[in-house]
Amino acid sequence: MDVGSGLTKATDGDRRELLASVAVRARSDGRYGGDQAKPISWRDGERWLVAEDAIAFGEPQAYSNTCSKEWAGSDGWRALLYAILGRLGVSGRTTLVTGVPMAWYHELAEPLRKALVGHHRFHHGATLVEVELKPQVVPQSVGALYYHTGKLGDLPAKLANVDCGTYTSGFSAIYRDRPIINACGGIALGTSVIAAGLAEYLKREYHYQTDLWTYHELLQSGTVEVRGRKVSIKPALRDLTLLLVRPLLETLERSWPNRDEMVVYVGGGGADLFLPAIRHLIPHAQKMDGGIWSVAEGMYLLATVRQE
Ligand SMILES: Nc1ncnc2c1ncn2[C@@H]1O[C@H](COP(=O)(O)OP(=O)(O)OP(=O)(O)O)[C@@H](O)[C@H]1O
Ligand SMILES: [Mg+2]
Repeated sequence: MDVGSGLTKATDGDRRELLASVAVRARSDGRYGGDQAKPISWRDGERWLVAEDAIAFGEPQAYSNTCSKEWAGSDGWRALLYAILGRLGVSGRTTLVTGVPMAWYHELAEPLRKALVGHHRFHHGATLVEVELKPQVVPQSVGALYYHTGKLGDLPAKLANVDCGTYTSGFSAIYRDRPIINACGGIALGTSVIAAGLAEYLKREYHYQTDLWTYHELLQSGTVEVRGRKVSIKPALRDLTLLLVRPLLETLERSWPNRDEMVVYVGGGGADLFLPAIRHLIPHAQKMDGGIWSVAEGMYLLATVRQE
């Protein structure tokens, strides 16, 4: 399971589950949409709503902050974990591989593993779920790299990747199977920065305003319909991205002095958007398989190899 700051992705090898990473503590008296919602609860007298339920019934100012170092393992994060386990129909002994941003891996991984190991009992809607978790915590960007390279027979000696997410971009480098700590890190810059830039641009140029989800869709489609007229925003997006991605390029320039000898993959939901800008610094950077799924699928592969 990959709980991103924007999207939560999970797979059990057969099925994929995707949830918006939105969590909110429910009002104690609330009945939600005639019981259409599935509140999550693991403590007496306290319920959480996630994803569509949180968006439909929660107050935006009460949403858990997903863009913080404290996000992994927080109550909102746990509510999303339980919602995913509930949706996948997991019960009993379960191996769970999840991740934290590369930048804080050494600080956060072991505390998170300890917080997750063992018995969990929670309600997912009306269903009581009991699981015994055997957790492993990996750096998110390594998960992605593992997915991409797990299928290659012969690994390049120096391999690196950038995982471009919603609020962060993580990167890692591996030389002959060993992570190189100085070449791994991350910064608080993702597609949300481009979405904000696009919002300003559309307001200024077209007097057009919409909601956050739509801005993110526009980043993918490159076309906006302004009061019935279709307008291509691809050139504007390219210019905006070149400008706004600069802090990431500066970080990569510093962290990867030897980038010319590495094979570099770019993944995550921001890959298509960021790749042209990254190629200004690293002309040989390639797109990674899997899009938003590469981290979660890599974690699944790690879970299966470590079981054997
Ligand atoms: N199929 C898709 N569905 C939704 N969003 C997508 C899709 N493809 C690309 N995106 C874009 O990618 C972003 C999500 O990317 P990703 O899932 O890698 O981020 P994340 O893991 O939530 O964030 P972070 O890694 O910063 O915590 C969305 O905000 C959107 O801009
Ligand atoms: Mg991510």
